[in-house]
Amino acid sequence: MRDTRVIAPQLLDWYDRHARVLPWRVPPGGGMADPYRVWLSEVMLQQTTVAAVKAYFERFTALWPTVEALAAAEDARVMAEWAGLGYYARARNLLACARAVAAAGGFPKTREGLQALPGIGTYTSAAIAAIAYDAPETVVDGNVERVVARLFAVETPLPAAKPELVALAETLTPRERPGDYAQAMMDLGATICTPRSPACGICPLIHDCDARAQGIAASLPRKAPKAAKPDRTGIAWVARHDDAVVFEERPAKGLLGGTLAFPSAHWDGRDLPPPGLAAWREVGHVRHVFTHFSLSLQVMVGDLDGPPARGHLVPLRQIDREALPGLMRKVWDMAQAAIAA
Ligand code: ADE
Repeated sequence: MRDTRVIAPQLLDWYDRHARVLPWRVPPGGGMADPYRVWLSEVMLQQTTVAAVKAYFERFTALWPTVEALAAAEDARVMAEWAGLGYYARARNLLACARAVAAAGGFPKTREGLQALPGIGTYTSAAIAAIAYDAPETVVDGNVERVVARLFAVETPLPAAKPELVALAETLTPRERPGDYAQAMMDLGATICTPRSPACGICPLIHDCDARAQGIAASLPRKAPKAAKPDRTGIAWVARHDDAVVFEERPAKGLLGGTLAFPSAHWDGRDLPPPGLAAWREVGHVRHVFTHFSLSLQVMVGDLDGPPARGHLVPLRQIDREALPGLMRKVWDMAQAAIAA
């Protein structure tokens, strides 16, 4: 790496011309962003891609334009709007955080204050401080790790390389426009310095990149081989009674915590019986990948003899497929296809 001081001005110059237009973003040089919108978008972006987050962000901010509005929302409504983004602990933390911020009269102004809030860690606190307050904090996500690994030709594999990459990233953060700079790094990683075939030919940092000079850009960052995910199995019951289906709320803590789900067993360590007597019929298996394991869930369909032994009945016309967690949506789709057949 040659002179690192040229990196930020070159990148900002590129960002001024090529910044992506995103619903939560203030255009380059456009001043302060609303911390509520920065926080909400960053929490969502930890779940999925920019393209997928756009619709969720628009919907959340239309329903709840301020952190106070979100703080006053009903838990179930927020969980339902979150459905599809996955990892429900984040939605619960989102609400807990909104309520803490509303009670305190606004978002804290420092990174330390931000980090004391539920669900806000190193990354999100740096992103809010930089983007909403223009504080010279260094924001390091997967995109930034890749850009930095290449600029400095770091060949240590991830995740061991993380502290080194953070330290190197910190050497690049400018005092001028750190918020735009943070977003510029992420945009560069997302659009040019991409994982498999980086577009070095149009990169504003082509002449500053050690990996490019050595011809190894596409192979960085190196990654330590991943441990295989363990497989789990379980069973889910789609139990019908009159014109209704049995649902139950998942325990607040743990997998799919607090969401509405079909009664199920084994996969989450709970050895539970079916929700009642029926001539159970297996209609297939759904597969779903969680952070720490892969799941194959046997789907059983049946008509209950009487009221459910666990859970409660939800009338068919009230079932909102979109509000179900991804796994349960797959179960529902499979059961419905079988029932219709
Ligand atoms: N990815 C995560 N946060 C982002 C942001 N603020 N801008 C661009 N990409 C992002």
